[in-house]
Amino acid sequence: RTASGDPPSTMGREDMLREELGSIHGIPLYKSFVEGWPQVEAFQARPDDLLIATYPKSGTTWLSEILDMIYHDGDVEKCRRDAIFNRVPFLEMKIPEMPSGIELLEKTPSPRLVKTHLPVQLLPTSFRDKDCKVIYVARNPKDVVISYYYFYQMAKIHPDPGTLGEFLETFMAGKVAYGSWYEHVRGWWEKKQEKQLLYLFYEDMKKDPQREVQKILQFLGKEVTEGTLARILHHTSFQEMRKNPATNYETIPTVLMDHSLSPFLRKGISGDWKNHFTVAQNERFDQHYQEHMAGSDLHFQMEV
Ligand code: A3P
Repeated sequence: RTASGDPPSTMGREDMLREELGSIHGIPLYKSFVEGWPQVEAFQARPDDLLIATYPKSGTTWLSEILDMIYHDGDVEKCRRDAIFNRVPFLEMKIPEMPSGIELLEKTPSPRLVKTHLPVQLLPTSFRDKDCKVIYVARNPKDVVISYYYFYQMAKIHPDPGTLGEFLETFMAGKVAYGSWYEHVRGWWEKKQEKQLLYLFYEDMKKDPQREVQKILQFLGKEVTEGTLARILHHTSFQEMRKNPATNYETIPTVLMDHSLSPFLRKGISGDWKNHFTVAQNERFDQHYQEHMAGSDLHFQMEV
């Protein structure tokens, strides 16, 4: 509150943002995104669009910066031309008083990089009709849920996450934005036979970023010099991205994201869940994971 006792002028907007989720075809999603859904569903992809698809908090921003660097042949200055959320528009994003993902995409020259968190069944059909390439990155769910817990706190579009124990239950029940992590990673995994989809893992990117960037280059049919590859790897390291205003989200208004609660680029490691889960929470999560991944050949590295 201000000295006069009146709420600061941003308060109304913040209250409006912190509300319960709506849903699209049974998938929980922010109400403002739901309002923009008809435009998203009707979105016309172009054949040379490259789709970056992820469940939230799985390395989307990292992969986006790697791809923008590849698209600009490792030119760091070109990749500083704008914030990452403008260079790689977020397809289904719609927030009052900001250009929507669709509006940004309409202004973006081809070849475009397009970000989405949509589960595969909600992807606008034009991406398939145009045979667009897709890169999916998945991250182990224990680190996803911890990262998401901090993100729920700092990004005010989310409902109040409650305690970590409560949030773990909400996550396991698939009642967070974008729904069940299990259905998301499995749904996209089933598409990986299609030659247009590259399925990556955050843990592999941490372990051997050079090998993973080379996989991406091969998938795109691009070659870069050793010097360019070294520049891409350096510029997209956690330390570099964290201090770069074009990648660290600090240019987003505080009313939307409060970095004093938690930075967007928070820790950038594998295994941070070990600093947060109790033994009982870990056992419960493991059991839930086994039940929901049963019969799948998709395996996650939890012990990294
Ligand atoms: P943490 O909260 O665990 O630190 P997304 O971009 O999908 O929202 O994912 C955000 C997560 O990716 C955050 O995880 C963030 O720190 C991490 N991240 C972003 N850039 C990274 C990088 N260059 N290297 C490693 N992790 C990165």
